[in-house]
Amino acid sequence: MEEIEIIKPDDWHVHFRDNSILKAVVPETTRHFARAIVMPNLTPPILNGKQAIEYKERIKKVIPKTHNFMPLMTIYLTESTDKNELKEAYNNKAVFAAKLYPAGATTNSDSGVKDIKNIMPTLEKMAKIGMPLLIHGEVTDNEVDIFDREKVFIDQSLDFICKELPELKITLEHITTKEAVSYVSEGNKNLAASITPHHLSLNRNALLVGGIKPHNYCLPILKREDHKQALVVAAISGDSKFFLGTDTAPHFKEDKESACGCAGVFNATNCMSILAEIFDQNNSIEMLESFTSINGAKHYGCKINHEKIKLKKSNKPLKFKKYLKVGNKEVIIFQPNFPVFWEVF
Ligand code: DOR
Ligand code: ZN
Repeated sequence: MEEIEIIKPDDWHVHFRDNSILKAVVPETTRHFARAIVMPNLTPPILNGKQAIEYKERIKKVIPKTHNFMPLMTIYLTESTDKNELKEAYNNKAVFAAKLYPAGATTNSDSGVKDIKNIMPTLEKMAKIGMPLLIHGEVTDNEVDIFDREKVFIDQSLDFICKELPELKITLEHITTKEAVSYVSEGNKNLAASITPHHLSLNRNALLVGGIKPHNYCLPILKREDHKQALVVAAISGDSKFFLGTDTAPHFKEDKESACGCAGVFNATNCMSILAEIFDQNNSIEMLESFTSINGAKHYGCKINHEKIKLKKSNKPLKFKKYLKVGNKEVIIFQPNFPVFWEVF
């Protein structure tokens, strides 16, 4: 039986939500991950250091005692974010980073930024103090095709930010296109990107062929196979600009299976097994540790974790649990469309 031991991973992009759903989903992440960057798109969003500290306390309360885990908090940038308050929250270690959602780009992003030029003084301040900027990189113009929104964002906005502020530490989050892979790998040293397990597993056929599959609906939307391949090449390359951000995003089953289904894939539970499978299928299992446990920490200037986890390759495909129960509702757990043999111990 094949077996590997790797440094305990970090998840550099997670949605924990709040209340009963928070309690149900947090242990799914804290089981295998040492740290996670927690997204601020609650309703209402986390807008300042005080709210971030309070949210962190709510998270800490539901971490199982046997799990050693550190939530890293974020602030949701708006056009009225006070740059001095932001600086204070960062310097006091209340928050780890700030998140830029173009207004209307995704779930709970209505109070996001309409025009990047309006937040340039805030971004300049962040560059000065070394605070990372996390970006949902999609334009929201109705005329732009949903499959092109990431590429257009890079051309219209990211390139502008990178040229104006080369010292700003930026993560282009959950990238989905070959254009994003090239832009980031050729970009300045402070620019990196996270990649999700679902974008490494599926192309857009998994969303649209044989009937609409709402549980594979996420934003940025799944793309063509050649884009998926480019993401896999980046993930297994060992290039320290690419690392794991799961974008695990729980929604209730009934909200995903509705006439206007929510975007988001809940993948925390089996993420490490699925990634090991993909790396193994690409003869690169030895590169898994860089992607999940080293590259992100380097980008953010964090220490590498001490703990280790073991993964073993079983003879039979694993049987995954189908859903997580939250009260009398269910959150469907992501399953890829290929068998997975790697189990975490
Ligand atoms: O699919 C997504 N779901 N993409 C996002 O950017 C947000 C997330 C959510 O919060 O549900
Ligand atoms: Zn997200």
